[in-house]
Amino acid sequence: MGTDKETRINYSDNISDNKPIIIRRCTLEDLEAVIDVNERELPEDYPYFFYKSILDNYPESFLVACDDTGKVIGYIMWRVEKTPAIHSLKLINKGHLVSIAVLKDFRRLGVATALLNNSMKSVKKHKIHEFVLEVRVSNYSAINLYKKFNFTTNSIKDRYYRDGENAYFMTLKP
Ligand SMILES: CC(C)(COP(=O)(O)OP(=O)(O)OC[C@H]1O[C@@H](n2cnc3c(N)ncnc32)[C@H](O)[C@@H]1OP(=O)(O)O)[C@@H](O)C(=O)NCCC(=O)NCCS
Repeated sequence: MGTDKETRINYSDNISDNKPIIIRRCTLEDLEAVIDVNERELPEDYPYFFYKSILDNYPESFLVACDDTGKVIGYIMWRVEKTPAIHSLKLINKGHLVSIAVLKDFRRLGVATALLNNSMKSVKKHKIHEFVLEVRVSNYSAINLYKKFNFTTNSIKDRYYRDGENAYFMTLKP
């Protein structure tokens, strides 16, 4: 999508055969709902100003998924970081996945896949050298999701999370 447009996923539940989920850019008005999804689905929480600064700086890759009532049921946000290249002093851009989550009732419908697909196209426009992310070593669903996108484990970050769990550091060349 250049993320100016909306993307639609259709799914069915017990009540209706065809319900849409819309993927679109996050707006300021969505932030409280995004925080709510984050607090329900992930142990890592961030203050409001953190979400706001990601939205201000990287609006094109901060996306939400909404159900047929307009309720936010998932989100993804990235930031772009300048880091030194390994073999020179040159600075390179890395696209860092900050957070992704989908409400339990809407999982395994392809929502995270659509959020990743659409946002990565926008992150790529920053001429990034690689996509990077951290994921809990116990987070089987997310690790599988990232492997499906061809991310590979680059290293393990010891006690990366506040509760002491290790993270896989996963990377992907665009
Ligand atoms: C990880 C998460 C975002 C996946 O969202 P989703 O919308 O259900 O994912 P999708 O439907 O797009 O699934 C894509 C692929 O991910 C993998 N996957 C997703 N859920 C899985 C599960 N429960 N078990 C195993 N693999 C799973 C599969 O490879 C799946 O492809 P498939 O359906 O063709 O087998 C969701 O489980 C979630 O919000 N978890 C809590 C928050 C979180 O852990 N975020 C990541 C932090 S690093």
